[in-house]
Amino acid sequence: MKVVALVGSIRKDSYNVKLAEYVKNKYKEQMEVEILNIREVPFYDQDIENDPPAPVRELREKVAAADAVLWVTPEYNYSIPGVLKNVIDWLSRGDRVMVGKPSFIMGASMGLMGSVRAQEHLRDILFSPGVNSPLLPGNEVYVGIVHEKMDENGDIKDEATVLFLDSVINNFVKWYNQQASILK
Ligand code: FNR
Repeated sequence: MKVVALVGSIRKDSYNVKLAEYVKNKYKEQMEVEILNIREVPFYDQDIENDPPAPVRELREKVAAADAVLWVTPEYNYSIPGVLKNVIDWLSRGDRVMVGKPSFIMGASMGLMGSVRAQEHLRDILFSPGVNSPLLPGNEVYVGIVHEKMDENGDIKDEATVLFLDSVINNFVKWYNQQASILK
């Protein structure tokens, strides 16, 4: 299974990027994850949406070619960061490459809540008609107090989090295969 990861943080030491990298490396037997670079994606602009710049074309092509999308989001002011919403707005227009594309969500923050409010918003957005992405039910991954659970290399030291992630990825792969057989 080919998965593209869209991460709502573009900073160098992002915990959410590290979480995406952890998933990519640890579960490489179950799925192939590519973390997409969204730094060069310009602000969404309806005037150019049918002939968008290269970073948008590449984003749309990579998402279209993937079997599923992993969203990894921090929480900014109780919602998803603007960089992530911007990417979703681009993906929701033109060929609407998210429609029918299975998604799953996770996120990390230094606070207790582990980006729960951002993930709530993200779920609503994924269900909007222009996106319309089937979402793995349950299996909600809120990595709170991430700075105490992850070392500087991005390795997760907290055993409960590790075991939970193992089960979520397992559930995701099973659910994806069910979805794929229904869609065939
Ligand atoms: C935050 N942060 C934050 N945390 C949280 O739990 N709820 C929130 O509403 C916010 N709001 C917020 C706004 C802005 C503009 C910033 C920069 C930060 C803290 C945030 O979760 C923390 O910086 C994470 O480490 C960001 O994720 P990355 O960049 O480490 O992946």
